[in-house]
Amino acid sequence: MSTVKIAIDGPAGAGKSTIAKEIAKKLGFTYIDTGAMYRAVALRAIESGIDTKDVKGVCDILDDIDIDIQHDTNGQVILLNGRDVTLDIRTPEVSKGASDVAVIPQVRMKLVELQRKLASNRNIIMDGRDIGTFVLPDADIKIFLTASVEERARRRYEEMKEKGYTCSFEDIKKDIKYRDENDSNRAFAPLRVADDAIILDTTGNDLEQSINTVQKLIKERLK
Ligand code: DC
Repeated sequence: MSTVKIAIDGPAGAGKSTIAKEIAKKLGFTYIDTGAMYRAVALRAIESGIDTKDVKGVCDILDDIDIDIQHDTNGQVILLNGRDVTLDIRTPEVSKGASDVAVIPQVRMKLVELQRKLASNRNIIMDGRDIGTFVLPDADIKIFLTASVEERARRRYEEMKEKGYTCSFEDIKKDIKYRDENDSNRAFAPLRVADDAIILDTTGNDLEQSINTVQKLIKERLK
């Protein structure tokens, strides 16, 4: 029996992971957050005292990085060399570092191989920046989720506050702009809309509206 692959791409803070997680639960699919993998590489570099922009330094530690994704009742658990780093990878420092290491082709090839392996033999919904264009070009459904910078920054700010991090709205907006620029302008597998993707701009929508829209879209396509 063939499996169903759903790709959700888009810039930081567009709501990809929250929406994808919810839809995966409703459909009984496995959810894979590929951004978490780039974050784990960045965390390892930071913990090893390596600048995330230092291409050679990051490449030198790549062979010693083992990333695994597991799933429990709360969702995806990310293991870095056997250690659960699910929470450690969510800091602003790691967010910026993830965007830096994601520019490096060797990092991307290592993670893309793992992503394709995880996607084989099961129904999945995978989110990231290059899922529809590069990781799974044959995905059954491709959605490009976006929203204005202002709105994405506001959502991220609320999310961080809820998690107990102290941060300023302006810093978050600056971080989002930095990552938009970095993720869209890198040479290898940049963030862009796949030719056959459906673009959804969620500016002004609340989460429930966005989930309903995406769910309707998927249902129509899977008919
Ligand atoms: O989705 P996220 O914010 O957790 O992703 C963190 C960074 O990782 C993001 O700024 C760019 C990079 N990334 C990528 O280049 N390709 C992906 N498929 C997923 C994330």
